[in-house]
Amino acid sequence: KTIDGGQMLGALAGLPDQCRGAVALARNQEINYSRSFQNVVVTGLGGSAIGGDFLRVFCADKSPVPVTVNRDYHLPGYVNEHTLVFAVSYSGNTEETLSAYEEAKAKGAAVVAVTSGGKLADLAQKDGIPFLAIPGGLQPRAATGYLFLPLLIVMEKLHLISVLTDDLEDLGRALEDMGRRLAPEVEETNNPAKQLAKLFYQKIPVIWGVSGTTETVAMRWKGQINENSKAPAYFNVLPELNHNEIVGTEAPAELLKKIELVFLHSLDDHPRVEKRFEITKEIIGERVSGITEIWGEGNCLLSRMFTLTYLGDYTSVYLAILYGINPSPVELITLLKNKLA
Ligand code: PA5
Repeated sequence: KTIDGGQMLGALAGLPDQCRGAVALARNQEINYSRSFQNVVVTGLGGSAIGGDFLRVFCADKSPVPVTVNRDYHLPGYVNEHTLVFAVSYSGNTEETLSAYEEAKAKGAAVVAVTSGGKLADLAQKDGIPFLAIPGGLQPRAATGYLFLPLLIVMEKLHLISVLTDDLEDLGRALEDMGRRLAPEVEETNNPAKQLAKLFYQKIPVIWGVSGTTETVAMRWKGQINENSKAPAYFNVLPELNHNEIVGTEAPAELLKKIELVFLHSLDDHPRVEKRFEITKEIIGERVSGITEIWGEGNCLLSRMFTLTYLGDYTSVYLAILYGINPSPVELITLLKNKLA
């Protein structure tokens, strides 16, 4: 069976333009909240929540207010009229997000809906809640530009962060550059995504990132391998995993040889974390079948996070192709949602 993954590859090729479009879309959106904010909550699930995690990591040292991500029916108890709540659902029909949206309204929070349509769009329109209408027709996980950048721009509009134009331009350039190297027409010898997919084939990828820099990227790689390649994958972060998961490498060699380990680095990592990576490699290098180390590219954290993300996205699609699987449909998620309906 030959699967070309064409639809998902097409969406990936469009990511740099999607990012530019997402910024423009949010800049043109009127957001009229004039109150002061104490915190920001992004509520969503799966592909619609990960943009919130990128926002959380990016804003951690740049915004005066904390950003948290909520993947549940209920919102945290501290949500009140001084909370900015982004209710994000690509389809607009995810029941947990709809429930959290209603709760945010009931608590008097300043709500902004981000969706391509569905019940969330209807509710926001009826309730007079500002909503960012993002284009439909993609899988949520292929719409990360739309599910992350508008949130950042809205925070900028509300004076909760300042986004440098230089950073956004650098992001566009870095993605275009990486996209050229990962494209399907580039042979495996020059294409790091195809090389990684081959490495992951018939193995269990374990992705180790870093708290505060590549943690969301590591989570994203795991999710993309699950949803696009229909394969198991796991992630964890340093420094925490130095306090537990490394001990797991004392397992029998037979078990460990199924695992393919990847370290995701960034220039933004704490120097002690880089030291930890070095020592970890020294201690466990002999036990595991191999360790692949990758650094994000570009001149700012935004570019470094998203170039790594882009590499993981392409890798997961090439892995799907190796498994002879169509990356786009997520039939088990649809089945589960239908059974709940
Ligand atoms: O990637 C996917 O398809 C899922 O993870 C969905 O994003 C998740 O089920 C939530 O759906 P939605 O993004 O439409 O709210």
